[in-house]
Formats: sequence, C-alpha cells, structure tokens
Amino acid sequence: MRMIDINAYDERTMVLAKPVYDTRGRILIGSGRVLHARLVERLLEMGITCLMIEDEQSTGITLDDMLDMPSWLEQIQLMQLCYQTAKDKKVLMHREVFACAGKLLNEVKTRKMLLPMPASMIPKELQLYAHVVNVTIWALLTGVRLGYNELQLRDLAVGCLLHDIGKVLDADPANHPEAGFNFIKTCREVSLIAAHLAFQHHERLDGTGHPRAIEGTAFHPFAQVCGMANLFEAKISDGSLAPHEAIEYLMSLSGKRFTVEHVRAFVSAVPAYLPGMNVRMNNGREALVFAITSHLQRPVIRYQDTNEVVNLAENLSVLVTQII
Ligand SMILES: [Fe+2]
Ligand SMILES: [Fe+2]
Repeated sequence: MRMIDINAYDERTMVLAKPVYDTRGRILIGSGRVLHARLVERLLEMGITCLMIEDEQSTGITLDDMLDMPSWLEQIQLMQLCYQTAKDKKVLMHREVFACAGKLLNEVKTRKMLLPMPASMIPKELQLYAHVVNVTIWALLTGVRLGYNELQLRDLAVGCLLHDIGKVLDADPANHPEAGFNFIKTCREVSLIAAHLAFQHHERLDGTGHPRAIEGTAFHPFAQVCGMANLFEAKISDGSLAPHEAIEYLMSLSGKRFTVEHVRAFVSAVPAYLPGMNVRMNNGREALVFAITSHLQRPVIRYQDTNEVVNLAENLSVLVTQII
C-alpha cells in the first residue's frame, strides 16, 4: 500500500488499497477497485486529491498498524457534529469532545507508530474536521515527548480539537481565534487552557503573530504545540510540502515562532518519510520507503534494483538525499 497524488493514478497498474469515503463517512468506492477516468474526475470535484493504492511497487508495505482508519473517520464525524452544533445551537458538546480526546490519547499511547492520513483523502466538507483531528494527533505525540502528564495531555487534546471552532462561528476567518476563545470559555466543563489554546494558536514567540501579537512566555506551551502541529498538518495535507520539508520548515522557525525546545520535541515526534515514498539515496541508488519501525527519521528502505531491504537506523552512512 502507498499514498499517491490522485493525478499520479494509473488505472492500468493500480487498485485502491483503502476505500474512498463520501461526505457522510460512508464507503463510496471499496478497496480493490480500479478507478476509471470518470471516477477520478468525480473524486477531484469532491476535493479528494490523495489516494491509498496498491501496485507492484507497493507490495509488502502496510500502513494499517499505524492508524485505524474507521476509528479516524469516526472521530472526524464526531468533530463535525460538535462544530455544527456549536454553529447552529451555540452549544458546546463537551462530552463528545472529551470522548474524542480520550480515544485519540489512547491511540497515541498504544500504537508504536502513528500516522494520520492527510485530510485530502476525504471530501472537502470533512477536511476541516480531519484537520483538527490530525492536529490533535501530532500535538499529542509531541506532548508525550515533552513529558506531559495525563491531565495535561487531555487538556492539550481538547484544546486542539476545538482550536478552529471559531471558523464556524464567525464569518470573518481572521476572527476565528477570538471567536473560538469567547465560545469555549462559556462552557464550565472545559478547561480555560483549551480556550486560551484556541485564542493563541496563531501567535508567535517573537510577537509577530495574531490576533494579539503576544510574545515570549505569554505564548502558552500548549498553544505552541498546537501552532506547530497546525502548520505541519496544513502543509502536508494540502500537498504543498512533503513531511521532511515541513519538518525543515518548522526547524527554520525554531527560536522565532516557537521555542527551540518545542520544535525539537515536535521534530522527534513526527515521521520525516512515509512508507511508499520513492527516494534517492546518497549512493545514487533509488529506493522505496518500506516501513518506519524504530526511528522516525531513519526508515527502513528497499532498493528498487535489488529488492534489498535496509534499516537506515542501523546503517548510519546511508542517507536519503531526495524524494523522487
Ligand atoms: Fe486556525
Ligand atoms: Fe487549524
């Protein structure tokens, strides 16, 4: 199984490895199917730009142990319900948000490796909710690296799940941090930290962020973690940057937008390469990222010419130089 841009789909050699879901989270096209040109066009119209496929090259690669897709979709739909209820009835469904936070925390704690699917794998109508679920997963992975306790991780997760709720409450997107803050703080059951996280997730350490341009220690650690996860998620889900590029981009912001300590924790918590990617090594040979096992930045690769499998965590002189 590997992830591809929908434009790279070739019906002669590829079948779907994971189903494509509709706006209600129902299976639209099942796994094992071939997509004909008309179907591909329809998916593009729905805003789906990324597919999980199986072809000769991807044989032996599995992503199933990294994320349970039906459960991921379930959380996305739950957040859709929460955001829509906030919009229509001005009610915060805190129990559902806590349940979602608990589920995701459990995933992060029990899986050795975790890899959220890009939001571009599902229809446009659901992408905001996939975004907040993915941001929460990346943030929790970072929170674990930072040594946060259970209570802190829960608050971080609730804040991340609600960080963009202002987007459905205020017509002007620029107001979403403040609109979210004002709404979340009216719910007594939700920690005030979650409200502040929503308020601060577009702030920057050097005081160039918005809406208040706070700086230094006024920028809450949870908001920093959410801010990094937010940037990373947005860049890889819209396809503008590959994961290793998004990591480098974040590293370039270290000490400016986020503290060095926070960036370091984030970088150590997220994978730089995804299974199924084609890469060129420093010895000039082409390879496929085969699995991520022990080290997030040093995957297991398989050479294209010989099918030899090499764990980069154990072969430190072999480096990925390029994604091809
Ligand atoms: Fe935002
Ligand atoms: Fe966001």
